[in-house]
Amino acid sequence: MESVSSLLGSIEDVGRDAVRGGYSRPVFSTAELDLRSWFREEAQRRGLDVETDRNGILWAWWDTETHDDAGRQGALVTGSHLDSVPGGGAFDGPLGVASALAAVDLLKKRGVQPQRALAVTVFPEEEGSRFGVACLGSRLLTGAIDADTARNLKDPDGVTIAEAARANGLNPEHFGRDDDALRRIGDFVELHVEQGRGLIDLDAPIAVGTSIIGHGRWKLAISGQGNHAGTTLMDDRADPMVAAAQVVLAIRKTAAATPEARATVGRIQPIPGGTNVIASRVDLWIDLRHPNDATTAALVESIHGQAQKAAAFEGCTAALTRESVSGTVSFDGELQRQLQLAIPGAPGLPTGAGHDAGILAAHVPSAMLYVRNPTGISHSPEEYVEGDDVDFGAVALADALERLL
Ligand code: GLV
Ligand code: MN
Ligand code: MN
Repeated sequence: MESVSSLLGSIEDVGRDAVRGGYSRPVFSTAELDLRSWFREEAQRRGLDVETDRNGILWAWWDTETHDDAGRQGALVTGSHLDSVPGGGAFDGPLGVASALAAVDLLKKRGVQPQRALAVTVFPEEEGSRFGVACLGSRLLTGAIDADTARNLKDPDGVTIAEAARANGLNPEHFGRDDDALRRIGDFVELHVEQGRGLIDLDAPIAVGTSIIGHGRWKLAISGQGNHAGTTLMDDRADPMVAAAQVVLAIRKTAAATPEARATVGRIQPIPGGTNVIASRVDLWIDLRHPNDATTAALVESIHGQAQKAAAFEGCTAALTRESVSGTVSFDGELQRQLQLAIPGAPGLPTGAGHDAGILAAHVPSAMLYVRNPTGISHSPEEYVEGDDVDFGAVALADALERLL
C-alpha cells in the first residue's frame, strides 16, 4: 500500500501560493488540472477505470463489470475534492482523495473481493472559490442547482464556467442533473480533515460525521458616488466603503448575539479600487451559518435591513443577492452506525463546514469521517494532520469500506 503521506507528498508542490502562503487550486486552474491528471494516473496505476462525467466529476471504478448497473445495492462511493480556497491548507479535499486511493490499496492487499462496485470520486469546485457556488459538481449532479444558472456563473475575471469547462474538454450543454450517475451510487462516504477543534476536545483521532449545519452565501452590493479623494469634502460624500464597514460590524454583532450562528465577510471588493478614489460601489460576500434554517433566514433578513439603513445613512443603496443556500443536513443513521461498528470508539461529530456529502445526502445514504487536525485551523496554511493520524484515517476508511462492500 502506498501511504497517504507519500501520495500527498507527490502533490505538495502543486498550486503553492507564493503570495498568500498555502495552496491556491481553483477549479480549472493549472494546479487543479494537474491534480486531476495526478488522480487519473494514480487511479489507473491501481487498475481503476477512470471516467469524467458530464458535470466534470471524476469517477475511478474498481469493478468495471458491475458499475453499469452497480450491482443490486448500488456502488459504494468514496472521495472528496482537489480544488482549494485561496491560500488553503494541504489537506482540505486531497486528504479524502488520497485516503480513498490508499484504502483501495489496503483492500486489495487484504484480498477483499468486492460484492458491489466501488468508485473513488473527485468533485469539482467544492469550495466555490472560483465561481462562487460551493459544491458545484455535486449540486449539478443532483439538480440542486439549475444547469442554466450554473453555466452562467462567472469568475472574478468575467469568465463563465461554461467557457472554462469548454476550454477543458467538457460540453457545458450537458451540465445538469444526472439520474444515471446518481442511481449508480448506493452509499457515499467522504473522509475529510476536521476543520475545527472537535477532535482536539474529544482527544480522538477520528470521528463519524453526524450533521452539517445549514449555510449560505449572499452578495451585498453597496452603491454610492465614485469621486476624488482630495477634492470631495467629507460632508459631500456617498462612500459605499464607509457603509460597508458598518455592515461588517453589524454582521458580527448580529451573529455574536445569536447562539450557534457564524457569520463572515471574507471577501470585499471596492470598485474601481484606487487609493485616491472614493469607490462607486463595494461588493462584499456574506457567509452565514446556523443549525436552524429558519434562524438563518431571519438573520439574513435582519442583516439586509441593517445594511439598507447603513447604506442610506451614507447616501448609498444596498442590494442583496442570494448565491447559494444549503439547509442543515443529518447524515444517514444506518450508515453512521456501520461506520461506528467498523471504527470502534469513534465519536460522532457535527460540523460547521460544508461538503459534497452534505449535498448528496438528500439523494443517497451519505456519511463522513473526520481526521483530527491538531491546529484546529482550516482554510489556512496552518491546517495540519499528524502522520500517524493520516495513516489511522486511511485504515479506518478501508475498514469502513470493507464492512460496506
Ligand atoms: C467549505 O469548506 C465550506 O464549509 O465553506
Ligand atoms: Mn473540503
Ligand atoms: Mn474547504
